[in-house]
Amino acid sequence: MKQQHRGRVTKDGIRIHEAGDFAGMHRAGELAARILDEIAEHVRPGQTTGELDRMIENKVEAAGATSATIGYKGYRHASCISVNHVVCHGIPGDKQLKDGDILNIDVTVIVDGWFGDTSRMFVAGKLSRKAERLLQVTHDALMKGIEAVRPGNTFGDVGHAIQEFVEANRMSVVRDFCGHGLGRVFHAPPNVLHYGRAGTGAVLEEGMFFTIEPMVNLGRPETKVLADDWTAVTRDKSLSAQYEHSIGVTSGGCEIFTLSPADRFHPTWK
Ligand code: MF3
Ligand code: CO
Ligand code: CO
Repeated sequence: MKQQHRGRVTKDGIRIHEAGDFAGMHRAGELAARILDEIAEHVRPGQTTGELDRMIENKVEAAGATSATIGYKGYRHASCISVNHVVCHGIPGDKQLKDGDILNIDVTVIVDGWFGDTSRMFVAGKLSRKAERLLQVTHDALMKGIEAVRPGNTFGDVGHAIQEFVEANRMSVVRDFCGHGLGRVFHAPPNVLHYGRAGTGAVLEEGMFFTIEPMVNLGRPETKVLADDWTAVTRDKSLSAQYEHSIGVTSGGCEIFTLSPADRFHPTWK
């Protein structure tokens, strides 16, 4: 049987991977995470997002891997870099970072056919108090979602855990973008919503691979996409943050494929 067709698919269209598939996802996820670890020291005022993206592209190539985003639906870069009120899908360019800018860098690589997708927040220069709170809440919201991942729980349980935590901190969860299944493909069922009701949605099963990637705004949740057809921004111009891990469901919970080898995933690693 061809490799792509091993395992089975649930009635919701979600692929159930085999035990041996976890190793490939760990290799892909670790590379994406390591690239973000290495890029961290280059994020500073005066640096351009285009230069950061070129460094990322070079690192992907040096590892003998492939960028999943270059050529994806016409996208031309190895990363998305979303600064301040940009929610996601920011296009790297020649604008210089300023002191206090917060930015999400999102990298997806393909290693031996497996996709590793992760993003995290960085700061150029000094982090303001209100931005620090946003980053901490967004990071912790992702972790609350991950803690809800175990066989028998539902995707609604995951979204609910995230939403409840974010709103308890008087911030808002973006509804217009979601996480996704992945594996030997970039975006597969299900849509992983970062809000929802406990007990609703598809039931989690061992062998499901997906991302959780909540976007959290300091203001209202609404977004709009700019004329470049990619850049999503908050409608009220409020600051937005995002953290993303790729994970696989195990019998007892889940494994995170995109753990940071240098432990730089959390907002205050410096
Ligand atoms: N990595 C993004 C995600 O988390 C997708 C980026 S697609 C691109 O799903 F084309 F904008 F790069
Ligand atoms: Co993703
Ligand atoms: Co991503």
